[in-house]
Amino acid sequence: MSEPRVPFIPDNAPFTPEQRAWLNGLLAGIFSSAPAAVAEARPFLRVAVLYASQSGTAEGLARKLAKELKSQGHTPSISTLVGYTPAALAAESHALILASTYGDGDAPDGVQPFYEQLCFEHFPRMEKLSYAVFALGDKHYEHFCKFGVDLDTKLAALGANPLCRRVESDVDVDAPFAAWKTDVLAKLNDIAQGRTHKGPTPAASSAVQYPSPADKTEPAQTSQKAISRDSPLLAPLVERRALTQSLSAKVTLHLAFSIQGSGLRYESGDSCGVIPKNDQNLVADILQGLRFNGNEEVTLAKGPSTTLHDALTHHLVITRLSRKVVQEYATRGKCARLLELLAPGEQERLDQYVYDRGLIDLLTEFPGVIDDAAELVAILPKLTPRLYSISSSPIVHTGQLQLTVAVVRFQSHNRKRGGVCSTLLADRISIDDTLPIYIQPNKKFKLPSDPDAPMIMIGPGTGIAPFRAFLHERRALGHRGKNWLFFGSRSVESDYLYRDELEAMRADGHLTQLDTAFSRDQKDSIYVQDRMLENAPAFWRWLQEGASVYVCGDASRMAKDVHKTLCSVVEKQGAMQAEAAEEYVATLKSQHRYHRDVY
Ligand SMILES: Cc1cc2nc3c(=O)[nH]c(=O)nc-3n(C[C@H](O)[C@H](O)[C@H](O)COP(=O)(O)OP(=O)(O)OC[C@H]3O[C@@H](n4cnc5c(N)ncnc54)[C@H](O)[C@@H]3O)c2cc1C
Ligand SMILES: NC(=O)c1ccc[n+]([C@@H]2O[C@H](COP(=O)([O-])OP(=O)(O)OC[C@H]3O[C@@H](n4cnc5c(N)ncnc54)[C@H](OP(=O)(O)O)[C@@H]3O)[C@@H](O)[C@H]2O)c1
Ligand SMILES: Cc1cc2nc3c(=O)[nH]c(=O)nc-3n(C[C@H](O)[C@H](O)[C@H](O)COP(=O)(O)O)c2cc1C
Repeated sequence: MSEPRVPFIPDNAPFTPEQRAWLNGLLAGIFSSAPAAVAEARPFLRVAVLYASQSGTAEGLARKLAKELKSQGHTPSISTLVGYTPAALAAESHALILASTYGDGDAPDGVQPFYEQLCFEHFPRMEKLSYAVFALGDKHYEHFCKFGVDLDTKLAALGANPLCRRVESDVDVDAPFAAWKTDVLAKLNDIAQGRTHKGPTPAASSAVQYPSPADKTEPAQTSQKAISRDSPLLAPLVERRALTQSLSAKVTLHLAFSIQGSGLRYESGDSCGVIPKNDQNLVADILQGLRFNGNEEVTLAKGPSTTLHDALTHHLVITRLSRKVVQEYATRGKCARLLELLAPGEQERLDQYVYDRGLIDLLTEFPGVIDDAAELVAILPKLTPRLYSISSSPIVHTGQLQLTVAVVRFQSHNRKRGGVCSTLLADRISIDDTLPIYIQPNKKFKLPSDPDAPMIMIGPGTGIAPFRAFLHERRALGHRGKNWLFFGSRSVESDYLYRDELEAMRADGHLTQLDTAFSRDQKDSIYVQDRMLENAPAFWRWLQEGASVYVCGDASRMAKDVHKTLCSVVEKQGAMQAEAAEEYVATLKSQHRYHRDVY
């Protein structure tokens, strides 16, 4: 692309040489001092803005970016990577990608198929593509920004040209996003104006990492500071009651924290992060097993010095084992039986070994490996917050934040065990004790903006949580749209969470339809998706009337099965081929009428 040329008076124009020289001088002057005129002359770019987002942050930034590109005269297209194909990407010449990381360094929900296709062995090269990646993540996770990093690495390996260095942003996205945006816009404008683009400046790392608020040297907590994961609110627990009856094999709790006067704000559909701590009895057993007294000074990775007792209580995972922990421990102790499990081809046996064991089991089964507190701290991963879908509405349950928590308990290898956070909430704090909490917004899981739009909510087990909030909020806001809830649990007698509230809403018509599936009250399991099939004609009618569909709860099986059932309801009731039904469901998603909050 060449530099825009200054207009000039041709030699054969009817002017004297002096007049021509004077006019050419005038044109050159106007041209150099009129950026708008230059702008009109320059060829603008078509730019694909792509995002991989679970709770909406990356999507929100992508929309801002597209707006800004448009205001600068470019032609942006915006799309999620869910359902997007690498072939479509290869056909683009400029792409800006905003990608968050989930799970254990994974792609957000639904984006993995895109990445897998990109990794196919014979995937065509992408030399035509210039791109930039903004990776969103959280430094508290072991695999910081991993999906964004993987995507960037893969695109570079396929021959695509990086426009600028990848930015890896911690949860505080605003400043890093602004810096990255300025950089990419300048590069794109250079390209549009024909100035050569030289790619990112080589540096020690191919990425720019932005620090988390905790890394900054500011004083820790000021009264003005916004509540966040790094500066959580110490909220007092004001209510705890079992939603399950004592005959149930499992316990699910309703918990309320007071947030009165704290400045903590949330919206229904958001999640609450709880910063947990380990069980003191287990910490004591570990210290005793290792013959430490807990006062040993240790330094946490990228963190301050503290005592071993504090590190094991607040900062490190001691209840579960990962391959990495077993590897480090086995190598240090030359533990032959463990090394066997780590051999290639033995993953299944290793999975079985780690499934129901924790650090205490390694110490008991293979004693004498660790004699230095620092060594222990170095091999254990960081303890991370746990998220819970909020089950209250801020406008109905004012001054409170309520949760619905299933308590994880099990017994293995002669030890009673439990989930770190759910047992803390159940057993290890008393009413009026405080816990550090913060809000994890979920911009994608919100009430329909149209108050008259029908809503279908599918939430077995603790998946009921956000729907309780939605139902209360819709009533308080006077929304007249119809509400349909599918709820499932093990038994009507013992596990019907919020039964009174739900049945009262059904009785007074706020819940237009309530379908329950109690899986263990008969010989064959009945699940929420069976109720969807039984009600398929009505389900289809609601969809035709513009209903939004919401799913919350277990991701590993339930959400997948419900998705399949949704497709099959559409296929049969809409008399479509399977592919058309999938497209219909994909359209529901793109119209923001199919939302999932699954874990
Ligand atoms: C966005 C989001 C929303 C969520 N909302 C909710 C919610 O509303 N309510 C809710 O209850 N949870 C919710 N969760 C899950 C929650 O965050 C925690 O994962 C859950 O409470 C378990 O945490 P824990 O610390 O108690 O257990 P952990 O210490 O994390 O241990 C749990 C692990 O224990 C192991 N385990 C469990 N049972 C057994 C067994 N029988 N044998 C061997 N191993 C076992 C499994 O590896 C399991 O992953 C949500 C998660 C996310 C990501
Ligand atoms: N990853 C995490 O961090 C995390 C944390 C907590 C819970 N979970 C998952 O979330 C799930 C929900 O936990 P919960 O305590 O809220 O609910 P739950 O009581 O375990 O399950 C609720 C109901 O869903 C049923 N169900 C099981 N498989 C299903 C499927 N494929 N489709 C539809 N319904 C199905 C259950 O039936 P049956 O049990 O009778 O089969 C039960 O009736 C757990 O099973 C667990 O896998 C994950
Ligand atoms: C359950 C869960 C798991 C996460 N796992 C990681 C992770 O492994 N690595 C990471 O860097 N960030 C992780 N994050 C942080 C998110 O990537 C970060 O909050 C991001 O800003 C979310 O962007 P989104 O709203 O567009 O989905 C995780 C967040 C959640 C809620």
